[in-house]
Amino acid sequence: MNERAPHYFDAQPATPSRRRTVELHLPDMSLSLTTDAGVFSGDRVDPGTRLLLQQAPPPPAEGHLLDLGCGYGPMAVTLARRSPRAEVWAVDVNERAVALCRENAAANDVRVRAVTVDAEGSPPEAGPTFPAFDLIWSNPPIRIGKVALHALLRTWLTRLAPDGRAVLVVQRHLGADSLAAWLTAQGWPTERLASRAGYRLLSVTPGPPAVAP
Ligand SMILES: C[S@@+](CC[C@H](N)C(=O)[O-])C[C@H]1O[C@@H](n2cnc3c(N)ncnc32)[C@H](O)[C@@H]1O
Repeated sequence: MNERAPHYFDAQPATPSRRRTVELHLPDMSLSLTTDAGVFSGDRVDPGTRLLLQQAPPPPAEGHLLDLGCGYGPMAVTLARRSPRAEVWAVDVNERAVALCRENAAANDVRVRAVTVDAEGSPPEAGPTFPAFDLIWSNPPIRIGKVALHALLRTWLTRLAPDGRAVLVVQRHLGADSLAAWLTAQGWPTERLASRAGYRLLSVTPGPPAVAP
């Protein structure tokens, strides 16, 4: 039989559930988060995610903030704790991950709008309309492959507000520097905010508006 290996980005993970709790200790908060088999880094908070949470500039106090590819929600819950007046969104293709993100937001007393999306970035029928985002945080799914990753970033970066910003964490050996060059070439100026333990923290802004002829 030639069955496909399960991935953390499957819409409905076939892996049997194996729930556990991971602790996230940051300088400004400590969170207990429920994880599961079939979601990204279910055994511990991913070191790249941790780098972003420790080094990203403070999020805006208000506006629409997005955790793109939320997994069980460590970024979304942190955003909502740091910016309690903002509207925090979280999206993922993995239904189990989105359910955990909702659960973790409720368990940590914060509000997060967690939405399952398809690979094209659309919510389910009758789902919400996404606003323009003032901030996107993401540990993007590099393992979906370059073509799919570029499509994913194009879709969601296009939804940045004109003065918005995205902060991405990417492993250097998984192509962080070539991704930064590609983003800049596509019209999203990208700069390196930090580099640690094999990860790059990238800041991406919408390019200048096109000048009318
Ligand atoms: C590297 S994981 C990061 C998860 C979580 N933010 C964390 O830091 O633990 C990337 C996430 O992107 C999700 N993903 C994959 N393809 C996606 C897509 N097209 N749209 C939205 N999320 C996607 C995966 O299911 C996975 O949860």
